[in-house]
Amino acid sequence: MMRVPAFFAEHQQAVEAELARLIVPGDPVQRSMAYTALAPSKRVRAVLTLLAAELCGGAPGRAVPAACAVEMIHAASLILDDLPSMDNAALRRGRRTNHLEFSEALAILAAFGLLNLAYGTMARSYDPPLASRLSALLSDAVGVHGLIGGQATDLLATEQQIDFEMLERIHRGKTGALFSASATAGALTAGAPADAVASLAAYAKNLGLAFQIVDDLLDVEGDPAETGKAIRQDVKKTTFVSFSGVEGARQLAIELCETADRALVPFGQPANRLRELSRFVASRGC
Ligand code: IPE
Ligand code: IPE
Ligand code: MG
Ligand code: MG
Ligand code: MG
Repeated sequence: MMRVPAFFAEHQQAVEAELARLIVPGDPVQRSMAYTALAPSKRVRAVLTLLAAELCGGAPGRAVPAACAVEMIHAASLILDDLPSMDNAALRRGRRTNHLEFSEALAILAAFGLLNLAYGTMARSYDPPLASRLSALLSDAVGVHGLIGGQATDLLATEQQIDFEMLERIHRGKTGALFSASATAGALTAGAPADAVASLAAYAKNLGLAFQIVDDLLDVEGDPAETGKAIRQDVKKTTFVSFSGVEGARQLAIELCETADRALVPFGQPANRLRELSRFVASRGC
């Protein structure tokens, strides 16, 4: 089983330390927020933010608040995704899902709490022009043309026949958009020029689609001890696996990671960690 690349560790630690500082477990809603947001995670999106910032010459640590904001948004989306009215899941990050541990009401409030804290963190961590740019970026990624739109279409498509194009649209919305914004945010905190920002956004958009395809594969052939969530949750859904089979989906993920890597050509060797990240995404087992 492939593990996250070794360089993840220091980035995960930097982000988790700051998340633990920002999400203080106190009253029940704070404990509910901390329960999911601080649970074991690969922190792929945060790592993407930090790698993009490093590649663009950002000062060490400057991208950490943006990386935390991305992880808070992601954790909020997981809490909502697991609710009985959505995927009705019982296991997340190796723990009982948030609504089973707390209550549906607290889970919903915790998701709002995390989303709210994400925007507050950006407002407090960056000067107004950058804070405003990052807020607009993340609001677009979360919004009706991004995560929320993709998630809504995903849920409406349950037990429905959908075509390949629609499936790709769902995946690009619910997962690709936040990946792309994660890399873009990192580059913006480093003051990167527009062409570098665009290349990193293109890289991450394809990486995100590949990531969701492999997530669909893991729903069929993953090990819950590794993924921290149950398998066969997608039986009522059209996924890339139900369309193309296990081998076809695996191949598609590999090709998307190759497409992602082509956007890194202008950066040369310094982008090698991002290349390593796409190799991990193409063949991950957790
Ligand atoms: C799970 O994301 C949800 C998807 C969009 C596929 P991750 O696999 O990144 O979950 P964590 O953060 O490691 O728990
Ligand atoms: C979730 O997709 C995408 C989100 C944005 C939450 P899934 O429903 O496949 O994610 P998992 O498998 O529950 O993590
Ligand atoms: Mg879902
Ligand atoms: Mg789900
Ligand atoms: Mg899934």
